[in-house]
Amino acid sequence: MNGREQWSGRLGFILATLGSAVGLGNIWRFSYVAGENGGGAFLLVYIGAVLAVGLPLLLAELAMGRAAQGDVTRAFAHPAPRNPLRHVGLLAVAGSILILSYYSVIAGWTLRYLATYAGDLAAGRPAADAAADFAGFIADPLAPLAWHVAFMLLTILVTAGGIRRGIESANRVIMPLLGLTVIGLAAYALSLPGAGAGVAFLLMPDWSALGEPRVYLAALGQAFFSLGLAMGVLATYGGYLARGHRLPGAAVAITFGDVLFALVAGLAIFPAVFAFGMAPEQGPALAFVVLPEVFARMPAGVLFGFAFFALLALAALTSAISLLEVAVAWAMGLGLRRRTAVAGVGTLVLLLGIPSALSFGVLADVTLDGRGLLDAIDHMVSDYLLPIAGFGIAVIAGWLWRRDEALAEVELGPRLGRLWRLAVRYLAPAVIALILLRSLGLA
Ligand code: PHE
Repeated sequence: MNGREQWSGRLGFILATLGSAVGLGNIWRFSYVAGENGGGAFLLVYIGAVLAVGLPLLLAELAMGRAAQGDVTRAFAHPAPRNPLRHVGLLAVAGSILILSYYSVIAGWTLRYLATYAGDLAAGRPAADAAADFAGFIADPLAPLAWHVAFMLLTILVTAGGIRRGIESANRVIMPLLGLTVIGLAAYALSLPGAGAGVAFLLMPDWSALGEPRVYLAALGQAFFSLGLAMGVLATYGGYLARGHRLPGAAVAITFGDVLFALVAGLAIFPAVFAFGMAPEQGPALAFVVLPEVFARMPAGVLFGFAFFALLALAALTSAISLLEVAVAWAMGLGLRRRTAVAGVGTLVLLLGIPSALSFGVLADVTLDGRGLLDAIDHMVSDYLLPIAGFGIAVIAGWLWRRDEALAEVELGPRLGRLWRLAVRYLAPAVIALILLRSLGLA
C-alpha cells in the first residue's frame, strides 16, 4: 500500500509496542490482582500463561498485521478473507475503544495524584491523609471527569502527530525513562527495613492457591491485558512495520520486557506495603490508597510518590496511544484523514468514559454483579472479552491461515515454527476454552 505510514525501523517499532504493553496493567492492575490471588502462586501461573498462550498469540497477531500492511480488520481477515471469523477485527476495534474509555479514567487519577505530589513537593508539605483524600476525590462529581478529559487530550495530541513523529517519538523518550524510574523505585523500596516480607509475598508460592479456578482465570486475563493482546494493538502496530524486519526477536523482547517490568514494579510496591505493615489485597484502590499511605510514612515519601505517579501516568499514556490508534487506523482505512479520525474516535472515548468517571461518585450505587461500574467493566473485559477475542485470533492464525504462509510470516524456521503452530492451533484455544468454561461453572 503506497503512502502508508511506517516506523522508522525495528527499534522504534519495539519501543512503541513495548510502550503499549507496559502500562497501568503492569503496575496498578498487576499489583492488586497478584495481591488478591495469592502473590507468588499467581506469579507462577501468570508466567505459565504468558509463555504458553501469550507469546505465541503475540507473534501471531504481529505477523498477521505485518502481512496485511493495514489496520486490524485487514490483519484478521488476511488469512481467510471470506471467513466470518474475520469480524473479530471489528470486535477488536470496539473493544479497544471500550478499554480506553475506563483506562483513561484511571490514568486521569494518576495525573491528579501527580499534580498533588508536585504541589506538596514544591511547597515542602507532607502528603495528606490518603484514604480520605482518595474517597473525596473519586466521589467528586467533576474532578475525575476533568482529569479523564485532560488525559484523553494528551493521548489525542500524541496520536494526532502520526506514527513516526507522534507515537514513535513519544515512546523513544518515555520508555527509557520508565525503565530507570521503576528500577530506582524498587531499589529504594528494597532498602526499607522489613522489605523482605514483601519480596517473599511476591516470589514465594502459596501452593493452596493453585487449587482455585479463579486464580487461573485471573492469570490468563492479566496476561492478555498486560501484553495488550487480542484488541488489535499488535496487529495495528505490526501493520506499520516494513517487511524485512524480523519478528521473533521483537516478540520475545516485548514479552520479556513486559513481564520484567511488572516484576520490578512489584518489587517497588510490595516491599513498601509490607514495610509499613499494610495489607496487599486491596483491589483497584491499592495503588491509590495503600501506596499514598505508605508514602506519607516513609522518608522522602513525597518525592517517591511524585516519581511513582509520574511513572504510572507516562506508562498509561504510551498504552492509551496504542489503544486509540487501533480505531484511528481503522477509520483511516475507511478513507478519513488522521486528524479527523483522531478527533472523532477521541471524542467518542471521552463520552464513553463518563459513566466510569462517575462510578465512584454520582453513580456509586449502580453495580453490576456486585461491583462498581468501572470495576465491573474491567473484569468483563479481561475475564471474557479478551479471552474470547484471543480464541478467535488463535483459530484464525492456527486453522484458517495456510500452513506454509503462516510459517513464512512468523519467520521461526521449521522446528520452532512447528512448535508455534501447535501452540496457536491446539494449546491456546484449549487453555482459553477450559478456563472460560470453568469460570462459567460449565466444566
Ligand atoms: N497493556 C496495557 C497495560 O498493561 C493495556 C492494554 C490493553 C493495551 C489492551 C492495549 C490493549 O496497561
